[in-house]
Amino acid sequence: MDTRAIGMFDSGVGGMTVYKEVKKAFPKQKIVYLGDTARFPYGSKSKETIIEITRKGIEFLIQKNVKLIIIACGTATSQALEKVKNSYPIPIIGIIEPTVQYIKESHLRKIGVIATHGTIRSNAWEQELKKKIENIEVQNKACPLLAPMAEEGFIDNEIAKLTIHEYLKDLKNIDGLILGCTHYPLFKPLIAKELGSHIEIINTGEKIVRKVKSILKEDTSSVKENVEDEIYLTDTECNFIEVVKKLLGKSEIIEIKKAIV
Ligand code: DGL
Repeated sequence: MDTRAIGMFDSGVGGMTVYKEVKKAFPKQKIVYLGDTARFPYGSKSKETIIEITRKGIEFLIQKNVKLIIIACGTATSQALEKVKNSYPIPIIGIIEPTVQYIKESHLRKIGVIATHGTIRSNAWEQELKKKIENIEVQNKACPLLAPMAEEGFIDNEIAKLTIHEYLKDLKNIDGLILGCTHYPLFKPLIAKELGSHIEIINTGEKIVRKVKSILKEDTSSVKENVEDEIYLTDTECNFIEVVKKLLGKSEIIEIKKAIV
């Protein structure tokens, strides 16, 4: 039994949407989460910078003795994962491959992808979808305002509604929409309203769970009860706790630790 934690990181609160799904699937598994809030947003940064800060995030988590790292960030997955994943002694996974596998096994073939500028510029989703699935159509749309709005807690107000309408109005004739940035599941109710129920909204955090199961292959049922996850932020002047409370529906205060990365 390997009782070490799973490590996860993102630029901020977005990766907590992945945390939520992984926690649901492995309630007794300890998670160490790093939100690199001091460097937020990742979406507007160059590929070189994303690779450098992804390495820093990974090395921080390795120091915390984790057994697996989930890059709970679309921007870092799309631009840095391939470059860095083989340089470390533990498995490192991102959000793209497990989601593409899910789509391959589904009936969905007209896919919209919404994500940060960096992710859309990398074309990583479209390349992976077309490499793995025949006859798939892909429409991409960068939505750079959504991650900062999520950090601010603007996830269910009029501004969020209008912004989502503006970004999604050009996506025509799709049957599935990938939320290619991990901040976007925070807007899922508004996105669903905008698109209508005939379009499947794909939350990458849900799709990564199967991959995590296949890597851990172990029964975590005897891992000790009441595991205390550790949540680190590189800058604590932010609305992280308020947004996480909305996401997890918890009233108790999560303890945040300051990380030097
Ligand atoms: N949550 C991130 C992503 O999945 C990053 C958003 C940002 O920092 O711009 O892309």
